[in-house]
Amino acid sequence: GGNLLANYRGFWFGAHLLEGTITFQKHFKANDTDIILATMPKSGTTWLKALTFSIITRNNHSVAQSPLLFSNPHQLVSFFEINLYKDGKIPDIDSIPCPRIFATHIPCQCLPNTILDSSNCRIIYLCRNPLDMFTSMLHFSLQNGFLPQQPQETMSMDGLFESFCQGTYQYGPFWDHFLGYWNASLKNPQKVLFLKYEDLKEDTNGYVKKIADFLGCAFSSEEEEAGVVEEITSLCSLENLKNLECNKRGETKSFFKAKHSTFFRKGEVGDWVNFLSPSMANRLEKLVQEKFGESGLTLEIHGKYLG
Ligand code: A3P
Repeated sequence: GGNLLANYRGFWFGAHLLEGTITFQKHFKANDTDIILATMPKSGTTWLKALTFSIITRNNHSVAQSPLLFSNPHQLVSFFEINLYKDGKIPDIDSIPCPRIFATHIPCQCLPNTILDSSNCRIIYLCRNPLDMFTSMLHFSLQNGFLPQQPQETMSMDGLFESFCQGTYQYGPFWDHFLGYWNASLKNPQKVLFLKYEDLKEDTNGYVKKIADFLGCAFSSEEEEAGVVEEITSLCSLENLKNLECNKRGETKSFFKAKHSTFFRKGEVGDWVNFLSPSMANRLEKLVQEKFGESGLTLEIHGKYLG
C-alpha cells in the first residue's frame, strides 16, 4: 500500500497522511524557540536530526548518552503529519520541553502561517541531489518490502522513477519542494537555513558550526579548542549511528513500518552511478536544469554541476 496519492496545494501526499497534514496546518502553534527540520524523504533527515539535537543539547552533557536520541532516535522528533497529527487528532505538544525540534517532509508552501510568519522559530532545510535521493529511496523501499521485487509488477523501479520525474511522488514534485524552501531562505536567511547533503558531507565540522550559529548557540572558543565540534560530527557519523543498538533493531511506529536499520545505508555522494542507467541519469539532469535554471539554486555531485 501507500501508493495512493492525493494532491494538496500542488503537492502529492500519501492519501492516508493528508488529514493529519491539514490538521497540523490548522492547529499547530509554533514557539519562537522551535526548530523545524524539513527535508524530502531520503535527503539525510536522520543525520540532520542527530546533528541538531546534539548541537542544542551539548551543554546538558547529554550528547554522549542522550536518552532521547539514542534510546529511540525515531521518536526524537516526531514527524508532524505522521505521528503527531494522525487521524486528525490534535496532540499535546505544549509538554515537549523547549527548544522543541520537529522534523517534517511537508513542503514550505503547505506550512502553517504560525511557522512562517507569526513566530521567530527557525527552519533548517536539507536537500540532496535527486539522483542520490532517488537511489536511496529505491533501496529503502526494497529493503522494507515497499516495492515488489519483480520489475513487471505495478510499482516497480521504473514506475517509481517515472513518478519521481513526473512529480507524482510522496511530497513531490521535488523541484517545487526544494524551491519553496530555497526562496524562503533567500527572502529571510535569518529564518531559513538551506543546506545541501553534499556540502554537509564535504565539511561536516564547518556546517555543525554554521547550524549552531544559525540557531543562536554558537560554539565558544573554549568549546572549539576542546574539540566539541569534532565530537559532535563523529557522534553523528553514519558508522556511529548505525551501530547503536537502538538502530540495529526495531522499526518505526507510524503508518508504514520501516526497519530502523534501513535508515543507514551507504551515506555517499554519487552512489547513483551504481544503480541508475545513463538515460535515467540524463533525464534527471535535464529536469534539474529545466527546473532550477533560473532560481540560483545549484546542485552538484563531486564538483560537477547537474544540468
Ligand atoms: P543512502 O541510502 O544513500 O545511503 P533519510 O534520513 O532522510 O531517510 O535519508 C537516508 C539517507 O541518509 C541514506 O542515504 C542514509 O545512508 C543516509 N544517512 C543516514 N545517516 C547518515 C549520517 N550520519 N551521515 C551521512 N549520511 C547518513
